[in-house]
Order: sequence, then structure tokens, then C-alpha cells
Amino acid sequence: MEREYWGSKMGFWLAAAGSAIGLGNIWRFPYLTGANGGAAFVLIYVLIAFTIGFSVMLAEFVIGRSTKLNPVGAFQKLKGGPWQIVGWMGVAAGFIILSYYSVIGGWTIKYILSSFTGLISPNTDATNYFLNFIGNGPQAILYHAIFMAITIYVVYRGVGKGIEDTCKILMPALFLILVILIIRAVTLPGAFAGVEFYLKPDFSKITGQTLLAALGQAFFSLSLGMGAMITYGSYLGSKKASLPQSAATVTLLDTSAAFLAGFVIFPTVFAFGVEPGAGPGLTFITLPKVFAMMPGGAIWSALFFLLLCVAAITSAISLLEVVVAYMIDNLKWPRHKASLIIGGAIFLLGIPSALSNGAVPINVFGMAFLDAMDYLASNILLPLGGMLIALFVGWVILGTAKKETTTEGEFKFQPVWIWICKVIAPLVIFIIFLNKIGII
Ligand code: PFF
Repeated sequence: MEREYWGSKMGFWLAAAGSAIGLGNIWRFPYLTGANGGAAFVLIYVLIAFTIGFSVMLAEFVIGRSTKLNPVGAFQKLKGGPWQIVGWMGVAAGFIILSYYSVIGGWTIKYILSSFTGLISPNTDATNYFLNFIGNGPQAILYHAIFMAITIYVVYRGVGKGIEDTCKILMPALFLILVILIIRAVTLPGAFAGVEFYLKPDFSKITGQTLLAALGQAFFSLSLGMGAMITYGSYLGSKKASLPQSAATVTLLDTSAAFLAGFVIFPTVFAFGVEPGAGPGLTFITLPKVFAMMPGGAIWSALFFLLLCVAAITSAISLLEVVVAYMIDNLKWPRHKASLIIGGAIFLLGIPSALSNGAVPINVFGMAFLDAMDYLASNILLPLGGMLIALFVGWVILGTAKKETTTEGEFKFQPVWIWICKVIAPLVIFIIFLNKIGII
């Protein structure tokens, strides 16, 4: 079987940015910012994204392009032994994250439709509406199924015709919708208070918890630590793309999208005097309340949830692609079979997540199943994976890493990058990890 490759450098960048820009940017980043003191969190986040985030992304691209294999195959080829476990953790994380990510993706589809059917009305209590919807088992499963079906369809069509072509259309559309929404938000009367909250740092709010949140968010948002960028990097063929330049571009696009999403959320929320630190409900409860107070609210709401849905789909396809690539490379399954069977299995694993929000009490470690899956993936699997990937590139395949990052020209920051991979990233991740589990 011939392996597939990206058609162009731009196609690769848009696909990788599509993976990175997702629910993490538009749903999670604003509520974390709101809950962690606004601008101080943003500053720390940006710092982590461009140092540790960029470095781990570049490390993943190196592993992917130098092996042209999925994460498991890549670690087997480069070193084998226990290092394969990092690849396995990645495939497992892809499976786990997509199972609940798709449930939330399903909520966005429901909310696009509901914008026109009663959600956006002064008579609707948005909190009840949301709780009733996510607590309705069959509905939550139905929308999860629709979202998974779209994801499977794109991956089924392949790297070029499926993933690349889809991202080439959806990513520009996403930025266009984002700009339209920002213009609406910042021109609302009273919007300035939101901009101020967002841009004026309050460093007293920074604690160990804030750092962990920023680090976990950077990994999740940049799709790092589980081999999504290894997989996408592995589809780089002979077309010359500089890996450092690619990692910088994708980090910049992702961080910009998150930063810009804040300019939609905070001005809108402040203009109507609503609490910004509302947690995960900020998007699905607070915003519909605000849209209901705006003229033309139904349209703004539909446009906002369309933005969220588009962002989620281009990320979901990368999650599925990690697992599918493993089946194709290592088990020699045809792509069609792999996308259907793996997609179907992930759909099944998502059912407890879909049901755990009120329909059926499914708890793990005192958390709803969906939250437990998210906790496991973003606070444990991704940082751990990221730490090991950085160590691997810095210590085990340094020669390959030096070569891969300079094939298209000089890489000025190479010594800094190597140092971050060898020492800084693993150390920072480890310290924050110890803090999280209460050891320091
Ligand atoms: N980066 C995506 C987001 O911000 O929503 C989520 C994600 C996609 C995480 C792919 C990990 C991944 F491999």
C-alpha cells in the first residue's frame, strides 16, 4: 500500500492548525482565563506555548517526518524497547479524547440548530435548557453520533481528499467567522470593561494551580503529547517544508485563535453584565443568555456555535487519524475498514460520556465520566507524553533531530530548542506534575 502525503506545505499547515484550533481554543481557553484572573493567565499561557509548546511540537514533527509512520511505528523504528509505550499512550489518548470530545462536538451541532428553535429567547432559561439537553440520554447520543459520522467520513476519504481538502475550506472559514464575531462583540455598548478584564493582568491570581492549568491547556490546545503532530508530520513527503517554520506557524495560528476567541467572549459577557468566570458553562449557558439579550441574537448564536463546531471537527479528524494511521501502518488494515471500525469503537466508548451529564450517574473518582476522561487525558496522558517526547528527541535521537531541523536552511534557535527538549520542558512538566499530585 502506498502511503499518502500532503499535497502542499499550506495544506499541511492548515491541517495541523485545524488539529490545534478546536474546542480547546474557543470553549476551554476563555473559561480558564475567566477563572484564573484574566490577562495574567493569558501572559503565562503565551509564554508556555511559545517555549515548551513550540519545542514539543517541533519534536513531534521530527519524529513523524523522519520515520513516516504513526506514533507506535515511529518509536518502534527509531528505538524500540520501552519507548514504544510512548506511542501506545498516544494512540490510547487519541481514542479516549475523541470519545468525549465528540460528545461536546455534538452539543455544538445541537446548539446551531437550537439557536433558531427557542434557545435564544428571553423566555428560555439557558441553564435549564442546557441541563435538560445534556441530561437527555438519547439526544446526547444522537448528536454524538452525528458528530462522529462527519469525522469518520473525512478520515475515510484519506489524507489529501479528506483531511487536507476539508481543512483548506474550513480553516479560512473559521477565521472569517471569528473576525465577524469580534467586530460584533467589541462594538457592543459597554464592551470595553470586558477588554480591560482580558488585557489587564492581576498577578495575585497566579498560583501553582494556574501554572498547571496553563501547561495542560497548552498541550491540549496545541494537540501535543499524543502523537497527533507525529502523525501529521509523517505525511510530509518530498515537498520541502521547514519543520521549525511549520511549528512556529502552527503555534502562532493556534495561539492567535485562542487569543481572538477571548475578544468574542469577554466583551460580549461584560457588555451585558454577566459573570465571566462561569467555568465550563460559560459557552453553553452564559453566552446563550447573553445572545438572548442581543438584537439578532439567534443569528449571532448560530454563527458562534458554527465556529465552535467547525473548530471541533478539524480537531476530531486528527484524533481519529492517529489511531487509524496505526491500524493502516502496523496492522496493514485498509483505510476504509480502519476508519469505520475505529470510529465505531470510539463512538461506543463515548456513550458513557454522553450519558454521564445527568442522564445516568456514571462517575469515576468522584467525577462525571466525561470530566474524568478529560482529566485523565489533559492532566496526565498529554503532559506525560509531552515530557517523554521531549526527552526522546533531546537525548535519544539528537543526531536525527539536528539534521531534520536544518534540511531546509539554518535554524537559529536550534541550541535553545535542544536545551528545552533535554532539560527545561521535562523539568517544568515534572515539577508541575508533582505539584498537582500534592507532593510539592
Ligand atoms: N487541540 C484540540 C483543541 O484545542 O480542541 C484538541 C486536541 C486535538 C488535542 C488533537 C489533542 C489532539 F491530538
